[in-house]
Amino acid sequence: MLDEAIRNKVWKIAESYYPKNDWAHGRSHIERVIRSAVEIGKQEGADIEVIELAAILHDIFVKYEYNIQHREAHSRADGFRHEIEAAKESRRILGKLGISDATIDAVAHCIEAHRKRSSSEPQTIEAKCLFDADKLDCIGAIGVTRSAFVSFEHGQEFYKEETDIEAYKRKNVRADGTIIDFRLHSSNLEYELSLKEVAKRMHTKTGRRLSEERAAFMDAFYERYAEELKGRL
Ligand SMILES: [Fe+2]
Ligand SMILES: [Fe+2]
Repeated sequence: MLDEAIRNKVWKIAESYYPKNDWAHGRSHIERVIRSAVEIGKQEGADIEVIELAAILHDIFVKYEYNIQHREAHSRADGFRHEIEAAKESRRILGKLGISDATIDAVAHCIEAHRKRSSSEPQTIEAKCLFDADKLDCIGAIGVTRSAFVSFEHGQEFYKEETDIEAYKRKNVRADGTIIDFRLHSSNLEYELSLKEVAKRMHTKTGRRLSEERAAFMDAFYERYAEELKGRL
């Protein structure tokens, strides 16, 4: 279990990085991820201290990355990666708080490997728990709401009728799966390209179990949305 005084100190630092009033990327996302990650971690027999530290810090640069993408659409083939920068910054933050090197290494790995479009795969049980918890927040009722929030934030349409998904990928998705121009993207395209597959990418037994119902809800939501749009429902 994470020491209460350390938890408070890490939160105090982390909060200054997170956007205020941002339901999708701010404190509420982090709190949901902590709850799921700790729950999965208990079921999987993982180190809860590592999981909690990593969960608090995993997205400290996500908004920074979004802002760059927003400003510099088309300008860079390999942009800023929030998981890599957050892992580096977390090493500095936790080092100053006197956390052991072994814990810092374990936390940094969790953060580096937390992303669907990550540069590295989660190798430890703690990293797998964080990955699964973070992905649970992308699917189900919360996932749909979050996707809508992100869509509007980027000035996108919520739903774009795209019949040729491969042509869209060639036009607006890099080889590593990241989006080139966010303005051309939408919630349903994100679902088609990525969110639809999230449940299949879970790393733990608990994560897989929890993701099934959420994924089924999300599939049904986008199917229904398409039908309503066609005027059939
Ligand atoms: Fe992230
Ligand atoms: Fe996250």
